[in-house]
Amino acid sequence: MTSPEMRRLSPDAAGLDAAAAILRGGGLVSFPTETVYGLGADACDDRAVAGIYAAKARPSFNPLIVHLPELTAAQEYCDFNDDALRLATAFWPGALTLVLPLKQGAGISKLVTAGLDTLAVRVPDHALAQDLLRRFGGPVAAPSANPSGRVSPTSADHVAAGLAGRIDAVLDGGDCTVGVESTIVSCIGQPALLRAGGIPAEALSACLGAPLLLPADPAVPIAPGQLAAHYAPQGRVRLNATQVEDDEVLLGFGPVEAALNLSPSGDLTEAASRLFACLHTLDAMGAAKIAVSPIPDHGLGAAINDRLRRAAAPRD
Ligand code: TXA
Ligand code: MG
Repeated sequence: MTSPEMRRLSPDAAGLDAAAAILRGGGLVSFPTETVYGLGADACDDRAVAGIYAAKARPSFNPLIVHLPELTAAQEYCDFNDDALRLATAFWPGALTLVLPLKQGAGISKLVTAGLDTLAVRVPDHALAQDLLRRFGGPVAAPSANPSGRVSPTSADHVAAGLAGRIDAVLDGGDCTVGVESTIVSCIGQPALLRAGGIPAEALSACLGAPLLLPADPAVPIAPGQLAAHYAPQGRVRLNATQVEDDEVLLGFGPVEAALNLSPSGDLTEAASRLFACLHTLDAMGAAKIAVSPIPDHGLGAAINDRLRRAAAPRD
């Protein structure tokens, strides 16, 4: 799938140079990370960041994650307390985003934080993302590279299907290995889980030596982007299906007869890596009613179920 209005850049020095040049020129380039493809722009350039919101048709109250190549670079933009340092040291580079106090005067566009005095930062664990961030040499704001409210992309084809004609280029790095977005932890006060994701909450709690506050806790602010109806395929989604109706397509998990199966062997890591690709495939099949097998709610299962509950939430 190629589009004349969106360049597809190869995963080599020429492609990386071109991607960095687009960022420097205030353009939009999608790049692979280990979680999902991001839609990157210079985080200090208001116009470029506005372009992200426009391309995604994203509600402007929903702030963006800033991507940096390493901890020391992130420390230029926000303040790390002991908990944040412990988590960053243990899990970066990796599928963890930390919400931290924004350093005033650091130059980050207000559109990135949607006016908050906190900043979400992440160091991705992907060779191409790392290389691009180093070539560009500054903070890159990047939400998932999908139209707002739609399924996150885990391949360059997914990006093209959603955003061709609306962005400058995609750096093609093949399939993402983790396949769900990063886990988001706020380290403003007691560490709190804002979004389940690629790193299980259990691993983060073990590192901190204390449980994270969970989203249901009244002390935890709701992450602005955690809209109920999100990550939605076109079809209606029914969860925890142990039987399939005649007019439904089954998205299976474990040893069940299914049109599509997240993991026939019941492996949650495999299921996470295939989740969005399967939802895209269901869209491509034109599935109007989707039944989903029950998925255990531990480890990566928590992130998978979070995404699926959003996909199943009532919509306008
Ligand atoms: O894996 C990922 O995190 C991917 C890749 C591209 O890095 N990015 C991603 O970004 O999932 P996005 O924009 O789709 O989700 C970012 C989430 C949103 O729910 C947003 O509300 C939240 O992060 N967020 C960003 N800044 C925040 C802040 N300062 N405080 C609380 N939540 C914040
Ligand atoms: Mg997203």
